[in-house]
Amino acid sequence: MNKTLLQLFTLFLLLLTFKGRSQTPAWKEVAPGVWKTIIGNPDQFDLLKAAGVQPNLEALKKLGNPGFPLPLEDISAGIFEGTTSLRFPLVKEEQLFGFGLNFKTIQQRGRIFQLHVDHYGGRDNGRTHAPVPFYISDRGYGVFVNSARYITVYAGSAVRKDSPNAPVPKDRNTDKSWTAQPYSDAVEMLVPAKGVEIFLFAGPSMLDVVQRFNLFNGGGCLPPRWGLGFTQRVPTVYSGNDVIAEARAFAEKGYPLDFIGLEPGWQSKSYPCTLEWDNTRFPDPEKFVKTMKEMGIRLNLWTNPYISPESPVFQKIKPLSGTHTVWGGVVPDLTLPEAQHLLLGQMEKSQTDIGISGYKIDECDGYDNWLWPDVAMFPSGNSAEQLRQTYGLLLQKMTTELYRNKNTRTYGLTRASNAGGSSFPYVIYNDYYSHEDFITALINSSFSGVLWTPEVRSSKTGEEWIRRMQTVCFSPMAMINAWADGTKPWSFPEVEKEVKEITLLRMQLMPYFYSEFAKYHFEGIPPFRAMNLEQGFNIKAITELKNANLGENPYAVAVTKEIKDQYMAGEYLLIAPLFKGQTEREVVLPQGKWYDLYTGKLAGDGEIIKITAGLDKIPVFVKDGGIIPMMPPLLHAPAAGEKFDLEIRYYGTKPGHYLLYDDDGETYNYEKGDYSWREIIVTHSRNGKLAGSISKAEKGKPDNIGKVTWKIMTE
Ligand code: GAL
Repeated sequence: MNKTLLQLFTLFLLLLTFKGRSQTPAWKEVAPGVWKTIIGNPDQFDLLKAAGVQPNLEALKKLGNPGFPLPLEDISAGIFEGTTSLRFPLVKEEQLFGFGLNFKTIQQRGRIFQLHVDHYGGRDNGRTHAPVPFYISDRGYGVFVNSARYITVYAGSAVRKDSPNAPVPKDRNTDKSWTAQPYSDAVEMLVPAKGVEIFLFAGPSMLDVVQRFNLFNGGGCLPPRWGLGFTQRVPTVYSGNDVIAEARAFAEKGYPLDFIGLEPGWQSKSYPCTLEWDNTRFPDPEKFVKTMKEMGIRLNLWTNPYISPESPVFQKIKPLSGTHTVWGGVVPDLTLPEAQHLLLGQMEKSQTDIGISGYKIDECDGYDNWLWPDVAMFPSGNSAEQLRQTYGLLLQKMTTELYRNKNTRTYGLTRASNAGGSSFPYVIYNDYYSHEDFITALINSSFSGVLWTPEVRSSKTGEEWIRRMQTVCFSPMAMINAWADGTKPWSFPEVEKEVKEITLLRMQLMPYFYSEFAKYHFEGIPPFRAMNLEQGFNIKAITELKNANLGENPYAVAVTKEIKDQYMAGEYLLIAPLFKGQTEREVVLPQGKWYDLYTGKLAGDGEIIKITAGLDKIPVFVKDGGIIPMMPPLLHAPAAGEKFDLEIRYYGTKPGHYLLYDDDGETYNYEKGDYSWREIIVTHSRNGKLAGSISKAEKGKPDNIGKVTWKIMTE
């Protein structure tokens, strides 16, 4: 063959291979508004298999039947040398959210990630506690790649030469509009596997997409009522008597407390763990748990999953563990039912059978220098990488089942999660401790089907302490984690009064928060969520808004600046925290009127407002027509069957409507229909008077509401 012929032949071969790579996937609707495609031969083990949850089809049906949300022919996928590449189109101005629990950024277009379960290291690069391979577009769709691999994502950062919208090359020497990162019209991903399963979720709104994603994963978790009360984690080597004294101090000083977290010192040895009580600090665990229960306090136990040679389960679990150790402990292959069974058996015998209410599952996220390496092998044949991506999920799933089998709800903490975990009653936390970034994470958690707590540990000043306490009380878990510092809510006398007030406000809001979690469970709506998921915050709609008073378009700022310091708590509340050193801030109010939570006064109307706030208050705004059901400031959550009074607050001028959720607050009986939704309505009668009503609980269904009083907040 001569040289030219050879070159032509090689080119022909190359084209063939290239053509073989890309295809337009065929999609199948697997639930209303949810489509699936399979590319190549996906791994047997993936995120949804690890989570093992069932979609809530009934609830998905209620969300309607939208059409396929993307141009089919613009999606392509292909397999090359054992890896799968994916391409999804983007249009100009399109914004992307999600890609897991990020701490610094909310809009993700233009970023590159490698999604990898890890302790967050200060950069939004994909290494985080829940690197969920799911993104949402403001065009009203979401993409979920169901793979337990380290997926590389180019979220609108790369340009193909055959792109119909490829940017025109510019001359950097002379053209000032040259940019190092030209426009890209696609999200491209590389999955290191010979195939993958992908799901597409329809809108039309971003909140619809999120709801579908959560419902597809079984719906959000419904914590027990006590889980939404206050929780204190005590220093590592506290004894049983120290813990009892701590609980007494809370009661004497009048601070609410529902559960106490014991840190590593409850175990005889930790890092690696024995999963056995230390009998010097806790000589009679059963009696200790009982004493605490009599004081109205439940217990949560810290653990990590690395098993010490001194643990009673070590010998049996060793052959079911990976090739590598972590701190000298073995790493159970939790994809094996026998390994799960052994671990759960130990937890049950020594802990849950005597009344322990939950766990804090630590160290299942990273760092690389601590955990098993990617060369490790596991007896199931699943890879080290797959185990890393799913270890937190697996631990949440198995412990949730442990409690479900007892028909008792739990609410705990985990340092790792992933897609599929929405229904597990676990909240993510970490050691990173940046207050501002903690709030950004809280916002981002709502795009990824996970919960996050901006836990409070210590502070340099009383001012910082109260600011942190204020936000943690408006989060999924109101917690002080004093494992290292021994701080108490009253540690800063100069703000003691304010701290007590905010913890009691948390308790007062329990009927509201509990109902909002029920909406997370039954409808998939995240209880704490990004402003971007709020109607009327849509930046495009907002740009059209005219506000003569402000002169310039108030939302110009919103377009250019990421809003990562305010968020929604439930249907009606907008939280605008202040951070250390701040005495004033701006708040971007979505369209419509918003009212001050504390005074009921009008705060603004779809505009950017500037507010000042003393240390005594965290700025909170209520949407027009907002109804906030509150209970008295009890020190513990009402127990199953315990009636509590309701004060129903109403804000604004619009007709008010709210669905209040009620059940026994402790068991899984709600799954069998043992719950009630009660409709609260506020209307204006002809003479301008306001009238409120609350429907009765269905006959035979839980009814914990005592006396009802009304408070019209806006005069
Ligand atoms: C850390 C964890 C802390 C605390 C500590 C105890 O890994 O993030 O919250 O539990 O371990 O050793």
